[in-house]
Amino acid sequence: MSNVLATALSAETALDLWLAEQTDKGLLRFLTCGSVDDGKSTLIGRLLYDSQLILDDQLASLRKESRNRTTGEEGIDFSLLVDGLTAEREQGITIDVAYRFFSTDKRKFIVADTPGHEQYTRNMATGASNADLAIVLVDARKGVLTQTRRHSFILSLIGVKHVVLAVNKIDLVGYDAGVFDAIEAEYRAFAADLGFETLVAIPVSALRGDNMLAPSANMPWYRGPQLVPYLETIEVASDRVEKPLRFPVQWVNRPDLDFRGFSGTVASGVVAVGDDILIAASRKPARITRILTMDGDQPRAIAGEAVTLVLDREVDISRGDVLVHPGETPDYSNQFQARLVWMNDEQAIPGRSYLLKLGAQLVPASITDLKFRTNVNTLEHSAAKTLELNEVGTVTIATDKPIAFDSYADNPLTGSFILIDRISNATLGAGVIEYGLRRAQNLSYQSFDVNRKVRAELKGQTPQIVWFTGLSGSGKSTVANLIEKRLTAEGKHAYILDGDNVRHGLNKDLGFTDEARVENIRRVAEVARLMADAGLIVIVSFISPFRNERRLAREIAGDVKFSEVYVNTPLEVCEARDPKGLYAKARRGEISNFTGISSPYEAPEAPDVVLHGAVQDPLRMADELYARIFEWGTGYTI
Ligand code: ADX
Repeated sequence: MSNVLATALSAETALDLWLAEQTDKGLLRFLTCGSVDDGKSTLIGRLLYDSQLILDDQLASLRKESRNRTTGEEGIDFSLLVDGLTAEREQGITIDVAYRFFSTDKRKFIVADTPGHEQYTRNMATGASNADLAIVLVDARKGVLTQTRRHSFILSLIGVKHVVLAVNKIDLVGYDAGVFDAIEAEYRAFAADLGFETLVAIPVSALRGDNMLAPSANMPWYRGPQLVPYLETIEVASDRVEKPLRFPVQWVNRPDLDFRGFSGTVASGVVAVGDDILIAASRKPARITRILTMDGDQPRAIAGEAVTLVLDREVDISRGDVLVHPGETPDYSNQFQARLVWMNDEQAIPGRSYLLKLGAQLVPASITDLKFRTNVNTLEHSAAKTLELNEVGTVTIATDKPIAFDSYADNPLTGSFILIDRISNATLGAGVIEYGLRRAQNLSYQSFDVNRKVRAELKGQTPQIVWFTGLSGSGKSTVANLIEKRLTAEGKHAYILDGDNVRHGLNKDLGFTDEARVENIRRVAEVARLMADAGLIVIVSFISPFRNERRLAREIAGDVKFSEVYVNTPLEVCEARDPKGLYAKARRGEISNFTGISSPYEAPEAPDVVLHGAVQDPLRMADELYARIFEWGTGYTI
């Protein structure tokens, strides 16, 4: 399970418990953005302290620990409070975002606290997705920083509409109105295009308490609201309940043959017993007969409630399906435009296959088009081939099969997704959907009377793909050549797709950057598949340096037999051979991105065959390979 999910789950449980203890006070979800240096922990600690939720004994030990530290008048270093709580929360579980709950007489609050370093942008994107409001914290001495702008941009991306600019440590600039005014003016100018509905700037000292609860005597020039009263009263329309019903099925609950229920949390809207519903994907109808919770049956369930729904008939529903009301169906497509925040050190590459998780739906997906990158400092767009850590891009995403979704503007919960690495399971990026696209929607496979089986029988062979991978000069093409000769001599129909050759024609527009290689392999994998379909034995000889794309090639091959052959020849040996003189040029810096020298080669983890190019001569390698994958046995099966 990814950290994001773990966080969401644990927060959900904690939230349930806490909400159960609360009366009907309004709820404000907010998050704080800024770094520890800006005084974020102190600010949150102060809010917790002022809301008097902290137990007396906790306070006593805090006072003790706060000796020798910078403290407010109460003799407490408030940041200790927050850091202490964080440590508690982190026991046993990795948490990207720490949620804290507190309340005043007027309102209850959930604050999502996210680490403030540049590389933690991801935490904001995930922690903020439910927030009504954000406190953007700046240090009065430093003013608006790149990080402030980045955070604000992401807030706008994820649809946070209400912002408080807290100009903190105002005491350290002598409560100077000029400093505050300049920071406010600069921020307002930047934020003008970000679409915030409300923006209030408040000069505060979280440490000393200035303008936190009551007007500060130190700033008679300031006429605006104080932070806590402002948070208590600001109107934020939280309309999840008013939105159309979205019920993502988390699991199919079937304890025995007599009972079949669909469990999950109502993402938005209301569902009631007697309602007609549709399954978003199949559009099959059904009617709700029961709504069950831990406490028994109930007539209806609203957004946020975890329930099990029972239907009046047997319909095919599985994990990931979304139940909706007729007439309010979400988009159902295999393509959409989205804005994507990249969160991984390894860049985002169009064409590469990732896993996309949207609610309970999990499907392979790739970025098919990177339209532009947005500079979060200037909000300018620029052309880009990849996205680096923390960069934001507008992209087209294609999923391997259609999924149900909404635009983020319509419904944040069913309009946002994460991309996950297919091998490491790490969260790579978070995105919000702008709108669905319908390309390829009405395409289906044409079937012709002459099919692969017929063509293969005519040739008297089993089509298959033999995929060589290895460094330049490892011996791939030499062995491929020997194999093709032998097969041809036996009357078989084979064809070699070779990197150097294909790059002269079909792929002559591609160079050797990572993204060009991804596309190079994607295309050749498709061609290999077509050739196999035509009945050929396809021998592919490309460096194909990335695991991800070799795996993609295997997937594209589908039910065609696919063998990955790793020609494992050490770099030193390839370099000593240097048949084309390319290694020497790469060493002299005349060729950039040269595999093994200035571009990575990811060795296969589980190849079907390994050939040792340094110790075996090509004929022996060809013999071994032949024995391993061309032992035809009796008859040819397709
Ligand atoms: S791949 O990495 O995209 O799979 P491919 O197999 O198509 O590479 O092409 C590799 C061939 O291109 C090498 O055998 C070599 O002759 C040539 N070449 C030219 N420049 C480079 C480079 N920078 N890196 C690797 N190979 C290069």
